[in-house]
Parts: sequence; C-alpha cells; structure tokens
Amino acid sequence: MSHSKDFSQNINSSILLKMLEAGDSFISGNDIANCLNISRVSIWSHLEQLRREGFTFEAVRNRGYRLLTQPSVIHPDLLAAYLKLNNIELPLIYLNETDSTNSEVERQMTYQTQTPFVVISSKQTKGRGRHGRSWYSEDSGNVYISFGFKPDLPPSLIKSFTPWVAAQLCHHLNREFKLSIQLKWPNDLIFKGKKISGMLAESHIDADHIRDLIFGIGLNINGNPKTWPQELQQIGTSMEAITNASFNINKMSASVIFYIMESYDLFIKNQWQAYLPSLWSKYDFLYDKHVEGFHGTVPIKGTAKGLSDTGALKLLQENGTLLLLDIGEISFSAPIKIS
Ligand code: BTN
Repeated sequence: MSHSKDFSQNINSSILLKMLEAGDSFISGNDIANCLNISRVSIWSHLEQLRREGFTFEAVRNRGYRLLTQPSVIHPDLLAAYLKLNNIELPLIYLNETDSTNSEVERQMTYQTQTPFVVISSKQTKGRGRHGRSWYSEDSGNVYISFGFKPDLPPSLIKSFTPWVAAQLCHHLNREFKLSIQLKWPNDLIFKGKKISGMLAESHIDADHIRDLIFGIGLNINGNPKTWPQELQQIGTSMEAITNASFNINKMSASVIFYIMESYDLFIKNQWQAYLPSLWSKYDFLYDKHVEGFHGTVPIKGTAKGLSDTGALKLLQENGTLLLLDIGEISFSAPIKIS
C-alpha cells in the first residue's frame, strides 16, 4: 500500500505532534480540540484508530491524554510528527513495500516538482547496493530511505557527497543516541565491527551538470539478524542486536532525515570540505589498518591513512608513496574488504 499524502497536515499526525510536544505531561482533550479546530469526539475516534495501529495512550479525567507507547515499525503519521518537531518540512512518501526506494525516487522525479523529497519504506523487494549488488530489505525493523535532490553542482563533486553524509550521520547518531558507530570508507557505518548501514548515491548527468541526485540509505535499527541470510549475519548486524535495546524507529528515522538534509545544505553551500578529513578521523574504522585490493586490474596494498578533503582514501604504500583513491576506482580484497 502506498501513501503519498501530506502526512504533516493530517489529523492523526497533528494529534501525535501535540503529544510529542507535551512529552511526559498530559495534554487536555480541549487543548488538542482547540488547536486543531476539531471536536473532542473526533479526537476520541482518532485516538481509537491510533490505538488499533499500535499506540497506547493514558487517559486521565480532568488531565487529558499522554502518549505511552509507539509502534515498533515505521508509522508515517508519527514519522511526520517527529519531522515537524525537528522543523523539517518536505514531501514525504511512505510505502509499506516497494521494489527499491532509490528506484521509486527516480520514478517520482519525473513528476515531483518540489525537491528535495523523501521516499521511505519498511520493505524492499529489489533493494540495491553498490557495485550492482542487492541490499537485503526483508526486515521491517530496519528502514530504507531515499532522497530526491536537484543540486546545482559540477558532476565531479558527487563522489564526495556520500563520505560527507556518512561522516555527518555517524557523528550525529553517536551523539544523539549514545552509540559508538564507526566509518568504513567510502560510506559504510560499522558498529562493533559489523555493517549497520550502507548508502547508494546515483545521478543523471547532462554534459557538465548534475540533473538529479538520488541518495539512498539502508539503516539496520531494530532488525533481527538471526532471520537474515547466513552470509549476511557474518558481516552485518543491527543496532538492537548489538545493544540489546530497541530504538525508537520513527524518531531515529526523522533524525536521519534531518541530518541528511543538514549535510546536503552544507554540501551545496560548499561548507564541508574543510571539515570532512577531521570529522572522518574521529570515527575511522580503517585508520592504520593494512588494506589490499585492486585499482582497476592492478593489485594494490598499503596502510589506510584517513581521507583527503574530497573524500578520497589515503593509502600509504610499502614504497612510501601516498595514493589517493576515489570511490569507484577501487575494489578491495582480504584482509580488509572495503566494498
Ligand atoms: C551498499 O551497498 O552498501 C549500499 C546499500 C544501499 C541500500 C539503500 S536501502 C535504500 C536505498 N534503496 C535501495 O535500493 N538501495 C538504497
């Protein structure tokens, strides 16, 4: 089922926003009714609907209502309420299931006049990864999010966008959710040595101009790796599996959207290059590790020494020379697999 209405304007989302704003305090039915210009009976029936969708509320006579528990999967009205709480206004398309959120953005690009916009889903049937690989997307405890952008930038900058977003996300998610995520070049988020997120940037380029930029991220939040294919369990995990605590998936998804929008704004204003190497170095999983791979068909090896200001990996070779490796120019093999 697809929902592409304006969630922030609907009544459920507005009621949820009022409750999120109230936090642990009660908010009276009268206050909600007055703010939203609807009757108290109408509020009651919306709350009943939300209860059926997995919310629980506490209702106390003369005090009002407060939100007790939220659904453990993406709920578009709640996500929209969290986005509004963070002052983010952008078109949001929610799909219970889709082939790939990146593909959906590509289709929407032809008739979405307003960019940026976001497509988010709880399940993908043809999730795509880098280098033509697939991205396992069966687990609705995880999220699949893609953005449609139309940046006015030269094509040469695209390769720097994902390392920049990855570094920003790593930094802000660690801070907000008290995690210890690391970065693995070019754009993986690693938690206790295993991958919890991958990013895929795709674009159409006209001569010397970026026509559009589609940026997708898969984030393993509350997924259960024990249900994933065996080979993925070796290399991937979820935040819940590592910490033994479940995360508020709607709040975290809203934060991810917020941080990606913020990273995008800084990127198009050219306020990223001076910060990228030092930000990356705080969370660099590969730093000082020996890596081996192929530059085209030529085997290379060396010690990872952080990032350049354009997001290229600095590789110190055994002969003492420093190689700068751009995304896409290299594939790595054991002992450290990069892509
Ligand atoms: C990788 O190979 O590490 C990149 C994985 C990117 C997966 C995300 S999930 C949302 C978006 N839709 C897709 O089909 N792929 C990206």
